[in-house]
Amino acid sequence: MRWLLLVCLIAWQRQGCHGAQTINMQLLQHWDNNWEGQFSVPLTSDVLGWELRIHFSTPVSGIQQWDGTWLQTGGTSGQDYVLLNLVDKGYHKAGTTMTIRMMGKFTGGTAPTATAEYIDLTGDSQTVPPLAIMTGVQATKYNYEEVLVKSLLFYEAQRSGKLPANNRVPWRNDSALNDKGSNNEDLTGGYYDAGDHVKFNFPMAYTTTMLAWGYLEWKDAYTQAGQHQQILDAIKWPLDYFIKCHVAPHELYVQVGDGGPDHGFWGRPEDMTMARPAFKITESRPGSDVAGETAAAMAAGSLVFKHINSTYSATLLTHARQLYDFATKYKGKYSDSVNQAAAYYRSGAYEDELGWAGVWLFQATGDRRYLTEAEAIRPTGAGWGDSWDDKTTYTDILLYKFTHKNEYKTDIEATFTSWMPGGSLPYTPGGMAYRLQWGALRYAVNMATAALFAADLNLHEHDYPSLLGSVQTLQNGPIIDQARVQACPHPVAGMNSETQAPIPTLCTGPWSVGQDDSYKDDRNDYVKNEVACDYNAAWQSGIAGLLHLALHNELPTDCK
Ligand SMILES: *[C@@H]1O[C@H](CO)[C@@H](O)[C@H](O)[C@H]1NC(C)=O
Ligand SMILES: *[C@@H]1O[C@H](CO)[C@@H](O)[C@H](O)[C@H]1NC(C)=O
Repeated sequence: MRWLLLVCLIAWQRQGCHGAQTINMQLLQHWDNNWEGQFSVPLTSDVLGWELRIHFSTPVSGIQQWDGTWLQTGGTSGQDYVLLNLVDKGYHKAGTTMTIRMMGKFTGGTAPTATAEYIDLTGDSQTVPPLAIMTGVQATKYNYEEVLVKSLLFYEAQRSGKLPANNRVPWRNDSALNDKGSNNEDLTGGYYDAGDHVKFNFPMAYTTTMLAWGYLEWKDAYTQAGQHQQILDAIKWPLDYFIKCHVAPHELYVQVGDGGPDHGFWGRPEDMTMARPAFKITESRPGSDVAGETAAAMAAGSLVFKHINSTYSATLLTHARQLYDFATKYKGKYSDSVNQAAAYYRSGAYEDELGWAGVWLFQATGDRRYLTEAEAIRPTGAGWGDSWDDKTTYTDILLYKFTHKNEYKTDIEATFTSWMPGGSLPYTPGGMAYRLQWGALRYAVNMATAALFAADLNLHEHDYPSLLGSVQTLQNGPIIDQARVQACPHPVAGMNSETQAPIPTLCTGPWSVGQDDSYKDDRNDYVKNEVACDYNAAWQSGIAGLLHLALHNELPTDCK
């Protein structure tokens, strides 16, 4: 939050900001030694976050209020207080008056007066949401905001490395602080993969790109849910790690931890003791897929942070360009170079990642060379189903967005024709397109989210979002998971066995059902119950897309 404040102060100098205003407290009433007062702030622009620095005329105590968290209570004189908005109290629309009411105690014979400096923390001028937000969200039987919040919290629970002071997951702590490269490079940070604690960069980078894409397209959903800072944090966490992994222009660590020993340990990452070797790709052991996907993630990240921290954004772009160069000049599949990845995330091909990376670099740089190269290398024809390994349809959607060429439209339509009811995929009795036993819901969600992105380009905007109707199982299903980070003994959480129920706070699945819609709420059934960073990625963005539609009163019937 302090970081947010700094960003604002910089943005403020840059663009005149919405500024600080001095306001007086209106004393509503006082009795005995109690007072009640109110600050009213007339707003001339949309606000995403605020801070109030209050000075009371006499010392006060025991203040109660409902809008913020105290950053300072009293100071040395007992007269100085600093209040920062609660996550769900940050958003206010231009033209309204924000009121902050509080009550407390005073000493002496006279009730206190107070003045406050009100500071607008909005910072990012691009995040101002449309007016539809405050005029009411379309009524739905699903609480998309809650799902958005909980799915994001899942990523916070998957964090590896040193956790910041604002970590919201009480049972998590610092872990894997000795993750290092073969030359002792610091490789701490990033996300644990799934139920396991290996850091597999290939799916992690895909996750990052997908989270960034959803944010760039449907920012207003995050603002509405009070999660603007949280999604930025979720995107930045793996990006900071990728920067560490990229140790030379043509050298990239792509995995920390070894699947065998890691999978043999059922315990919290805080308690791991096994060796965690790191593996990298180089010119002689290339990996165009993982280098391409990491370039895509960093280019997308540079767009996310462009107006928030231009230094950080530029750093990401430099890495993205170098990695793209590495990926295109030294071709190969990373799982052929790094055996330790092959059993878990073996790559099918790298052409799709090179196309995907090119189209993201084009967006971030405006350099048409990247677009031309993406067009030349992307796989053609109908997509099988996008995921950590296959970005065919996602790439087609972005290529169509920037070129409007018919060939992309044709391939997108061919893909969705096979995915929609009556196409070439089997459907479960409950109505879900069934691609594969592993993470069946993940594939359906990935394609449903692709359909939402396509609908934003007016490609079958009335047909495709109904694909999401086929994944409602997720919203009705039990919230359970197979993730060890959440399921293991912890003194605070008070959990003591593998069989004890997990903490039901995260939105993490189930991520698979049988082709007959069967589902078993059993942690040992990891095919149906394991969670993974990549499983939640398109889901996270798809929910943002649905919430965005709800804010604009455009939700398709199946999703209401
Ligand atoms: C985190 O680790 C530190 C140091 O071991 C410990 O003092 C603290 O209680 C831990 N916090 C939680 C939430 O487990
Ligand atoms: C912007 O990013 C740079 C580079 O990561 C960092 O050092 C700096 O602290 C950031 N600035 C703000 C205001 O957060």
